[in-house]
Amino acid sequence: MNDFASDPRFAGIEPFRDKLWLSSPTMHGEEQHWVDEAIRTNWVSTVGENINEIEKQIAAYVGVKHAVALSAGTAALHLATKLAGEKLYGQARPNAGTLAGRKVFCSDMTFDASINPVAYEDGEAVFIDTERGTWNMDPAALEKAFEIYPEVRLVVIAHLYGTPGRMEELKAVCGRHGALIVEDAAESLGAKYLLGGRWVETGALGDYNCISFNGNKIITGSAGGMFLSDSSEDADKVRKWSTQSREAAPWYQHEEIGYNYRMSNIVAGVVRGQIPHLEEHIAGKRAVYERYRAGLADLPVKMNPWDEEKSVPNFWLSCLIVDEEAMCPQVRGESDALYLHEAGKSCPTEILEALAAFNAEGRPIWKPMHMQPIYRTNAFVTAEGNGRGRTNAYIAGGGIDVGADIFRRGLCLPSDNKMTPEQQDRVIDIIHRCFGSKVGI
Ligand SMILES: Cc1ncc(COP(=O)(O)O)c(C=O)c1O
Repeated sequence: MNDFASDPRFAGIEPFRDKLWLSSPTMHGEEQHWVDEAIRTNWVSTVGENINEIEKQIAAYVGVKHAVALSAGTAALHLATKLAGEKLYGQARPNAGTLAGRKVFCSDMTFDASINPVAYEDGEAVFIDTERGTWNMDPAALEKAFEIYPEVRLVVIAHLYGTPGRMEELKAVCGRHGALIVEDAAESLGAKYLLGGRWVETGALGDYNCISFNGNKIITGSAGGMFLSDSSEDADKVRKWSTQSREAAPWYQHEEIGYNYRMSNIVAGVVRGQIPHLEEHIAGKRAVYERYRAGLADLPVKMNPWDEEKSVPNFWLSCLIVDEEAMCPQVRGESDALYLHEAGKSCPTEILEALAAFNAEGRPIWKPMHMQPIYRTNAFVTAEGNGRGRTNAYIAGGGIDVGADIFRRGLCLPSDNKMTPEQQDRVIDIIHRCFGSKVGI
């Protein structure tokens, strides 16, 4: 690691006294009130007014008929995926998943919690490459995947960093092939998409929809998530599965496998205190994004893009991607990375190390799923077709791999909405100095 403190490029930069976070919880005070209320009234378990209220409020905000509060976004995704599997292929035996022997098309550039439920249900994820306009699933690659695997009936789609994917095209491809969609809106609560002339919230765009209240999300419950649906039957089923699948009998009676996935009324109290601040959090994140966009405009980098006609992101994380010509050499192993500084150039590893040296937290772009050791033997489909085995010792070049390219050249910037403009200007200054130029002093 470079010694940034003694590197003349960074002369005069002070480390942040308090760490600048990627995205930390922002509390307002009402959270304490609703948590206290739960304790005062002794409704501290998985039943209570906070749960009822947030289910109502989030369903109304997102524009769905039903919301089921769960212990995590991952739990919501698991039950959504299981519900889809059961709808498509029937109830599984107790020792098997609903997707046993089935392939499922999945977003490739996402957090693994989006797609691990396919494996929990014994299915096999097939990863679909990313398009450059939103950094989400490429509809052309999805179409190719249906050519290769016409039997597939389920697609898991995530909206990365709060930016909606190209849902109109993705839904059209799924519709043509009779496939259901599990929508992972964990990162994108509050983001909207223009569908058929109508603005629709993410979390209302799939057949089975999920959000997260993880500590780093746009609003948090300290933990928690929700399943969202217009179907009362599906919502009732998720509620039942999440509370150990009890039947209507005087004793513990079970016809289905159950889970302990329900949200606690204490966690729901934190969410209840956060909901009134959702719009304010989004406005704060947007201001952070815009400040980076203006402050980095003179560098050979671009910000994470979105479809400006058809979507409004929630700007959860601000990211940048270094132009190819401005990339210094960088290699990444399984758990470490090296780079070689070159004048006028930089790379994610250098920028992240420089930020860390001055006490600011950035993060590499989420490493695509098809590159993860656990999923390296799963199929990967790009806009050109099969994305595996494209190189040849005797022929120059290889296939396209958009996800790998964004991972190589991109990074997530400190995006905390408690960061002051002055602090953010210092981050912008540090990034300039990585490329060998100074601003601000
Ligand atoms: C895209 C995505 N999906 C799913 C999850 C899982 O949510 P949770 O942490 O609430 O289980 C996360 C984040 O944690 C996420 O970023």
